[in-house]
Amino acid sequence: MMGNTFGRLFRVTTCGESYSGGFNRDLNIPPQLYGGLMAIVDGVPPGIKITPELIQQELEKRRPGQSELDTPRKEKDRVYIFSGVMENHMSTGAPVGLVIPNTDIEDSQIEKHRSYKYIIRPGQAAYTYYKKYGEYADWAGAGRASGRETAARVAAGAVAKAILDKMGIDVIGFISESHGIKAGPITYELAKENYRKNEINCPDKEKAEEMIRDLMKVKAEGDTCGGVVEVIARGVPAGLGEPVFDKLSATIAHGIMSIGGVKGIEFGAGFEHARMKGSESNDTPYVDEQNGRIRFKTNRAGGLLGGISNGEDIRIRIAVKPTPTISIPQSTVNIDSFENVTQAFKTRNDPSICPRIYPVCEAMVRIAILDAIYMAGGYRGVASIHPKWDKV
Ligand SMILES: Cc1cc2nc3c(=O)[nH]c(=O)nc-3n(C[C@H](O)[C@H](O)[C@H](O)COP(=O)(O)O)c2cc1C
Repeated sequence: MMGNTFGRLFRVTTCGESYSGGFNRDLNIPPQLYGGLMAIVDGVPPGIKITPELIQQELEKRRPGQSELDTPRKEKDRVYIFSGVMENHMSTGAPVGLVIPNTDIEDSQIEKHRSYKYIIRPGQAAYTYYKKYGEYADWAGAGRASGRETAARVAAGAVAKAILDKMGIDVIGFISESHGIKAGPITYELAKENYRKNEINCPDKEKAEEMIRDLMKVKAEGDTCGGVVEVIARGVPAGLGEPVFDKLSATIAHGIMSIGGVKGIEFGAGFEHARMKGSESNDTPYVDEQNGRIRFKTNRAGGLLGGISNGEDIRIRIAVKPTPTISIPQSTVNIDSFENVTQAFKTRNDPSICPRIYPVCEAMVRIAILDAIYMAGGYRGVASIHPKWDKV
């Protein structure tokens, strides 16, 4: 399997699967080493305080089994910092290694997955994994395609957060739509004020209640639904992103589209631009009298021009599909017997991925922005640009 690293200078590599450890119970090693998720974060500067609590705080947002809206799977998601940190939790500049053991990997759950081993789950990655990896494909809990894989990204994203916090760059994610129920307009300030104040992390409190009621109804029907996650990045300096193939918009999209269940991404007004006139789409610049800098009166571009950050908030909308595993019977295929069958999948899963995916989106945006900062810093280190251009 290839493609497990993201980033060019600030690089994150992950490994691990949903049920790794469940097949490797060697009594000569501690259970924490049976299996789980790992992240190696390369490019962390020395002198950054990286505590387990800081990483745990981010993991808590994604951890399953916390409310009726997510999977009953009970994973502790306890992180161990394996390397790259010495006294007083300070980074040394060496790669930071993070380990999250799988703990909820009982035989009974694995056997449930084994009973569906050859039955293609509609909407899941099993079919394409069998095509690619044949008989050795991981059939227990979707392997690398599982939502569990994203715990390692969130842990790595917490390291990026520790660095971005020092630069005054804030990334915040929330749910703005669930199963067609839309929140009202959400500013950065409202998102901050109501961050994680309800189970679905929708800053519009009234709409959040409506969304939750609807999700419980859908769950009772054995079904699932999709929604929209939004991310705002504030304090991002202008000039991040490398033309032409490595635009910041392109690397953020790469990071977000690599998350399972994500079906679309928009920046700023996104697809709405397709229905506008130029006069409606353009953000007009003005000179800010407070600091003499150039700003934009509106932000339909979502903080990016030519794929390069323009100093305004980066605003991203992410389409998340309904959780594919549903307990309603569906027609499918047994790839062992090559028969058409009907199957309901009674395993543990979320009625909506949205309440658990927003921290993953935050993590990927943080990693993409930090990597772009490293790239821009490297370029500025050798390019001589007249200081007057820093003032615009
Ligand atoms: C945080 C998170 C949790 C997820 N939970 C589930 C789940 O419980 N059941 C399920 O079928 N898919 C779940 N998924 C979605 C699958 O990972 C994804 O739909 C699948 O790999 C197919 O990929 P695609 O939807 O991108 O085509 C989850 C994804 C994420 C990011």
